Amino acid sequence: MGLLQTLAGPLAPHIESLPTWLVIITAFVSLLTLTITINVADQILTRRSDEPPVVFHLLPWIGSTVTYGIDPYAFFFKCRAKYGDVFTFVLLGKKTTVCLGTKGNDFILNAKLKDVNAEEIYHPLTTPVFGKDVVYDCPNSKLMEQKKFVKFGLTTSAFRSYVTLIAEETRQFFSRDAPSKRFASTSGTVNLPPTLAELTIYTASRSLQGKEVRERFDSGFADLYHDLDGGFVPINFKLGWMPLPHNRRRDRAQKKMAQTYMDIMTERRKEGNLEREEDMIWNLMNCEYKNGTPVPDKEVAHMMIALLMAGQHSSSATITWILLRLATRPEIQDELLEEQRQVLGTKADGSIADMTYEDLARLPLHNSVVKETLRLHTPIHSVMRVVKNPLPVEGTPYTIPTSHVLLASPGVTSRVAEHFPDPMLWEPHRWDETPAEEHAHLAPSHVKEGVVEEKEDYGYGLISKGAASPYLPFGAGRHRCIGEQFAYLQLQTILATVVRDLRFQNVEGVEGVVGTDYSSLFSRPLSPAVVRWERREKK
Ligand code: HEM
Repeated sequence: MGLLQTLAGPLAPHIESLPTWLVIITAFVSLLTLTITINVADQILTRRSDEPPVVFHLLPWIGSTVTYGIDPYAFFFKCRAKYGDVFTFVLLGKKTTVCLGTKGNDFILNAKLKDVNAEEIYHPLTTPVFGKDVVYDCPNSKLMEQKKFVKFGLTTSAFRSYVTLIAEETRQFFSRDAPSKRFASTSGTVNLPPTLAELTIYTASRSLQGKEVRERFDSGFADLYHDLDGGFVPINFKLGWMPLPHNRRRDRAQKKMAQTYMDIMTERRKEGNLEREEDMIWNLMNCEYKNGTPVPDKEVAHMMIALLMAGQHSSSATITWILLRLATRPEIQDELLEEQRQVLGTKADGSIADMTYEDLARLPLHNSVVKETLRLHTPIHSVMRVVKNPLPVEGTPYTIPTSHVLLASPGVTSRVAEHFPDPMLWEPHRWDETPAEEHAHLAPSHVKEGVVEEKEDYGYGLISKGAASPYLPFGAGRHRCIGEQFAYLQLQTILATVVRDLRFQNVEGVEGVVGTDYSSLFSRPLSPAVVRWERREKK
């Protein structure tokens, strides 16, 4: 009662005669007031001029977690207006320093390995999902080797086969006689997020993951995937280790899924190389680390899970945004179709000719639609690193201490008028002047004229450092995405295939697109996001 009495403040003399609930509430309010006062005083009195300003917040530990979590971009822009490009906010008890602008992106994404670390921050979330000894559950040098293996598997001849497989899978998915019967009629409405998540996983599994994985999606694998995906939630950065029901389901699914990949490998070895397809399992089964050790089956399985998870969310969110945006601009759908007619030509029956991998680079508007969508709807809004050495920020009096986490948000630079006039307008034609060779390698960057693009090899081939670019949806530096080319191929092929058969428009009374759901790890369109579809007349 002593502590309660103290906290009950003015009510203390009468505490014995008051109902317990009133005493508890009064004590709670007093404690909260005291905590807020101490926290606010601490921010005012202990402000250090050699560290970035701290975003004002009332509650310790919670800090700005809620405002950041609801809409990270709104939060970043508001803080930028008040504090400049470099500021610190409290995210679940952790001082997190945000560095915005092209300089901020470069400072974090191209920082030296000895100074910043990705695995310490990502590991608690990713290791239980991917499995041990891969990606963030191994030294960085091993991750660089694993990225090299994946990159080497993404050959031109593999890409050629993927375009055919993805186009076929997409055609079937939207056909009248697809098993789902979703598109059995000539027009209707469809909730795009869950529908396109399904299509994305079918197309990725049929191509990159291999035919056995695709077959298993028709029988049980989808449930395993779903349970595993349940472990990919932001709260698991902190509670990934806890035996909560969703984590138990995740762990069971991870074991079964890894075993499925290992069974596929055993089966393939038994059968020999007959009918060998150019998928990633075959490629990884034949890779060797620098020290001469072949990649163990378990690691191949875990890498395959990592690729499945890394690609699924980002690509599925992107293709959904693409179709949502196109539904607001039917004339762009007609332009896309016309581009295909002009570039690919028509068959004897009047339908557009089949598309090859090489054709993708000859469809600049298709490329621009993907590129523009990734500019406004980049799926990864925050890229984080742990600080390992005190880091002076050039051009400022600040040094970031090792107790902080660093956060880069390249999505901010791609939303500012300085780099992109009328930045919040979705306009694929803003990329019309993009040089042809950028479409050719399907891996666009956006570097100002006259700026020499710096390249570096971190152990998985030469890549652009992207330091000067305000457009970095695939990141930069040693942790840069290795799935960019595959993602472009997948997204462009789905886009080209679907606009041939269907036309989309907003349902009556709806304008623009739905808002963004930032509650999961990857930002994605809020669901439901329903649009009208209509089958095009076959010519
Ligand atoms: C890393 C974006 C598709 C595999 C990254 C990063 C970004 C990104 C921004 C850097 C994260 C960081 O620095 O911490 C995207 C986008 C995609 C996409 C926007 C699609 C639209 C894919 C696909 C795959 C993939 C299809 C696999 C086939 C990876 C892997 C990493 C990564 C393995 C980790 C690299 C590392 O930490 O070194 N991605 N990604 N991504 N991405 Fe992607």
